[in-house]
Amino acid sequence: MVAQRTREVEISGIRKMFESAPPDSINLGLGEPDFDPPAAVVEAFCRAVRGGQNHYGPSAGLPALRDRIAERYVDREPGTGRENVIVTGSGSEGLMATALALYDPGDEVLVPNPGFVLYGPHARLAGAVPVPYSLSASDGYLPDLAELERLVTPRTSTIVVNSPSNPTGAVFPKSVVDRIVAFADRHELTIVSDEVYEPIVYDGPATSFWGRSDRAIVVNSFSKMLATTGWRIGYLLAPRPLAVEIFKMHYHIMACPSTPAQAAVLVGLESDAATKRMVREFRARRDLVARLLAKVPGVSLVRPGGAFYAFPRFSWERSSQDVAGALLGRGVITTPGDAFGSLGASHLRLSFAASRRNLRRGISILAEYAREVEGAGA
Ligand SMILES: Cc1ncc(COP(=O)(O)O)c(C=O)c1O
Repeated sequence: MVAQRTREVEISGIRKMFESAPPDSINLGLGEPDFDPPAAVVEAFCRAVRGGQNHYGPSAGLPALRDRIAERYVDREPGTGRENVIVTGSGSEGLMATALALYDPGDEVLVPNPGFVLYGPHARLAGAVPVPYSLSASDGYLPDLAELERLVTPRTSTIVVNSPSNPTGAVFPKSVVDRIVAFADRHELTIVSDEVYEPIVYDGPATSFWGRSDRAIVVNSFSKMLATTGWRIGYLLAPRPLAVEIFKMHYHIMACPSTPAQAAVLVGLESDAATKRMVREFRARRDLVARLLAKVPGVSLVRPGGAFYAFPRFSWERSSQDVAGALLGRGVITTPGDAFGSLGASHLRLSFAASRRNLRRGISILAEYAREVEGAGA
């Protein structure tokens, strides 16, 4: 009755955690900005709907929006044009269309561990085999190139990268981007670079993979940048021969992206002032969280350089599910690190898409728990 691919794929464990939260819990589990979209963008959405932009549009997106997106990337690749851009129904859809277009059954796809929850399932749904590569605290959660070399086989087709990272907050320095590009070139691999947190960085800009290889695909989204997660609108960039192929899958998944949402994000791209304001607040919270976690016994943190997550590691002999469960019982929602892969064990993901007050309260409850565990000799 149900296809094998459906039987084999799981829904991410993150939501399960939230469903059992007591009322009035402090939510440090949010994967979306706790901000509203910029007022001008909301206004543009309403204007589009009232003005009759309620119909199907071109499958690859409105030409004006594709042009505007392409313009943002000409500094990295002067030849970037509309033909490189597909407006998608979110970063998630862009990732799925890319996986369906590029992975063949039996292909091996290098995916980060810990990493965002869709990469592995998307590979499997396309019949490919996800092969996790390690991101560990000792390397600042940056890929270990020697390990990548060991993992490559003749069947490896693609490496998926994500900087700034969910869940670790790590941002690849340019030197790491250079090395991954060289690695991918050497083995003729496609690079799928998930850059949805690109503007949310604290210690300098993130380096895009766009234009670095004729096999690099960049997936991006308006979800985090404009705080429009519920609108489901994003984009991807691909070299022209690949864009033509990914477009086919995108067309069959969703026919076309939302017309009023496109009109609205086009206005959103006129100014990055609201994104900058949001990032300023996230930076202050990042600093606060790092300062508070430094005082929690048994916990260490690699200071996140981007996204809005801290990924503290604990030294206790407890599973991340147990620790997250215990905190939930005390009214704090966190995400267990192993929801992002086996190497997320001994970690929690704390989202700082929460007020400074709630961050202080939540981390003080974590500290109280840590003192108890340390006192019990665990
Ligand atoms: C790393 C990463 N990629 C992609 C997405 C998908 O975002 P959306 O589908 O809202 O564009 C998310 C959302 O949390 C994410 O964290």
